[in-house]
Amino acid sequence: MSEQKKVIFSGMQPSGVITLGNYLGALKNWTNLQDEYNCLYCIVDMHAITVRQDPAVLRKNSRDLLMLYIAAGLDPEKNVIYMQSHVSGHAELAWILNCFTYMGELNRMTQFKDKSQKHSDNVNVGLFAYPALMAADILLYQTDLVPVGVDQKQHLELARDIAIRFNNTHGDTFKVPEPYISKVGAKIMSLQDPTKKMSKSDEDTNASVSILDDPDTIVRKFKRAVTDSDTVVRFDPENKPGVSNLMTIYSVATGMTMQQIETEFEGQGYGSFKLKVAEAVVEELRPLQDKFKQLAKDKTYIDTIIKKNAETANYLAAKTLRKVQKKVGFVPISR
Ligand code: TRP
Repeated sequence: MSEQKKVIFSGMQPSGVITLGNYLGALKNWTNLQDEYNCLYCIVDMHAITVRQDPAVLRKNSRDLLMLYIAAGLDPEKNVIYMQSHVSGHAELAWILNCFTYMGELNRMTQFKDKSQKHSDNVNVGLFAYPALMAADILLYQTDLVPVGVDQKQHLELARDIAIRFNNTHGDTFKVPEPYISKVGAKIMSLQDPTKKMSKSDEDTNASVSILDDPDTIVRKFKRAVTDSDTVVRFDPENKPGVSNLMTIYSVATGMTMQQIETEFEGQGYGSFKLKVAEAVVEELRPLQDKFKQLAKDKTYIDTIIKKNAETANYLAAKTLRKVQKKVGFVPISR
């Protein structure tokens, strides 16, 4: 990794196949960052076990996510795509940062409140300390920029507060990260409730499109997409959220402007419009799906990538971790 470039760090939970929303909103654009920045994409399996996981499913989801990143065009030679649990520095730094994080701060986290309601039979310490581990993820690599959605902004804010607090106590140690706001990248909404973001955890399976859905499934889901009682294809997110969402998807997939799309579908009903959007999505995902299938057959290659990237991440993490351990007063092992 080159020293001069800024560091971008992002984490994604290995909880099932990612959606068209994740892809068009984030992943697809990350391929444009790989030359300008040093990018780390961490598959956060340690965060995942804050709620109960089936081990076999977690293992599969983690490998699949790594393959999806590569299939989406992230070059595993240029980006560090790795498993969080392969770098013990995440857990070690998280412990130290736990001691710089207040109960009150963690208690205020809206994700903790939501998840402890949803998993009321298992409100474990890991779920509570989740944001401190996330801060460790970010701070371990002297990250400059973190691409986050609104749901993770509060966690990033806390990571900044923790970094500043540590720096104030022990002197300059961590870079204080900033959110990365992408210039491109669309916000894709649920197909069933277009006022909500498309989410893989949505209970309604018609609400989101997985990037590995087969063509028939994609067509079916778009046919059922919620629109409005009007019949005009017009971009108006306020009054026509469903139609506008479909237009956004179509625009990203085809490169057409909203104006061009309005013209293309003038005088046509929603039926043919929905079908056209579905077909565009099928075409958009086809190369990615082909690549994914190909990668899935090559276990040895994927194993090599996993190993190599774990080594790179460990090497980078060790630099910050040693510095932090020294600052807090841990006795170094003489070399
Ligand atoms: N908490 C994030 C999420 O659920 C995932 C995550 C973990 C993350 N560590 C991170 C995101 C560090 C950005 C940076 O989406």
